[in-house]
Amino acid sequence: MFKKICIILSLAFIFTACNTGGTIQPPIMTPSTTLTQFPLPSSSPTSGSTTAISTDTLRSTATIILSQTPVPGQTPTLKPVSERDVMAFSQNKRLGRGMNIGNALEAPKEGDWGVRLTPELFQLIKDKSFNSVRLPIRWSGHTSSSAPYTIDPAFLSRVDWAVKQCLDRNLVVVLDMHAYDEVMGDPNTEKAKFMALWTQISTHYKDYSDNVYFELLNEPTGMLATISLNDFYNEAIQIIRKTNPNRTIVLGPGGYYSISWLDYLSIDEGDRNIIISVHYYSPFHFTHQGAEWVDGSTPWLGSRWTGSQKDKDDIANDFAMAVKWANQYDRPIFLGEFGAYSKAPMDDRAKWTNEVARQAESLGWSLSYWEFCSGFGIYNLADKTWNEPLVKALIPVNP
Ligand code: GLC
Repeated sequence: MFKKICIILSLAFIFTACNTGGTIQPPIMTPSTTLTQFPLPSSSPTSGSTTAISTDTLRSTATIILSQTPVPGQTPTLKPVSERDVMAFSQNKRLGRGMNIGNALEAPKEGDWGVRLTPELFQLIKDKSFNSVRLPIRWSGHTSSSAPYTIDPAFLSRVDWAVKQCLDRNLVVVLDMHAYDEVMGDPNTEKAKFMALWTQISTHYKDYSDNVYFELLNEPTGMLATISLNDFYNEAIQIIRKTNPNRTIVLGPGGYYSISWLDYLSIDEGDRNIIISVHYYSPFHFTHQGAEWVDGSTPWLGSRWTGSQKDKDDIANDFAMAVKWANQYDRPIFLGEFGAYSKAPMDDRAKWTNEVARQAESLGWSLSYWEFCSGFGIYNLADKTWNEPLVKALIPVNP
């Protein structure tokens, strides 16, 4: 069944790309977070018969399509960085090896998902020699209910506190707007709030050091990704630039930051202090086996990733597509999330994590593991122990 859906989606994808008179358009998607419509070859892109699948399937399929795409030459070569782009590339280098502290500030309320931030967590990350922290934040869940969507001052000071924990330890911090589900399905209604959030965040942090980066929106999908993403990005960038001319901005493609959606990005060419983020969870049935939030993932339990040549080539082929895009547009790449869930076999998780991290680093990308101390965790909060195979995979003693 899954294979069948993949084939249908591959055809739909090719069909859509071929029917746009040269300009590539993202697949047509409905606003829903659970249903996605894809045009079939026999129909028009907007009105024909459709296949309903979950967005999680879409996420997995995006990477599967990618893995099946042959890339001639295999080894991507990096273009030298031009002078005008030095800033973004050096800022990307400073992200280095990073850690997502997930399930804390993007939970509906901090603590709801089992993680409360403490100074100790930041210290542990620092002591293991990580360079940066990506902080997923549910800004959208902590505002007044109507314009001007004022951010709850108590929540803002909590974020300030977390930022200080990073800066005091010389950790670069990425303020990632996360879990803003409402904007994915209904961009028109949510636009004012999204822009109001960036107006407030950028004004508030305008005098902070260049160790603070702004990430516009985690994993765009749904109607937003299909229709309005570039407008949202370009408008938010303009808002931020009014108060933060030199702030490093992070943003990523639709399709949950999928490499295969990079071609649909169209960002102000003149703004060079931008880092492009992609997320990587492929093969999805391996990294998300048994994940409670992914429908149909129970039968994937027991999926292996043994690190065969083909396994490694699949990653290389996927990454080569991102390198091609990055070279074309002169943008640095940040692998902002990657990880395999705790229900996958431990040895395979470590092998996969090591392979993804090494390949990313060999391409000059920065990276951030998903995530610190929950379901994908490298650290066990309950007994205060590190998951050593994952530590070794992320920070090899002899790279
Ligand atoms: C995304 C989601 C997060 C999830 C992760 C892995 O970042 O926002 O909730 O755990 O991907 O699936």
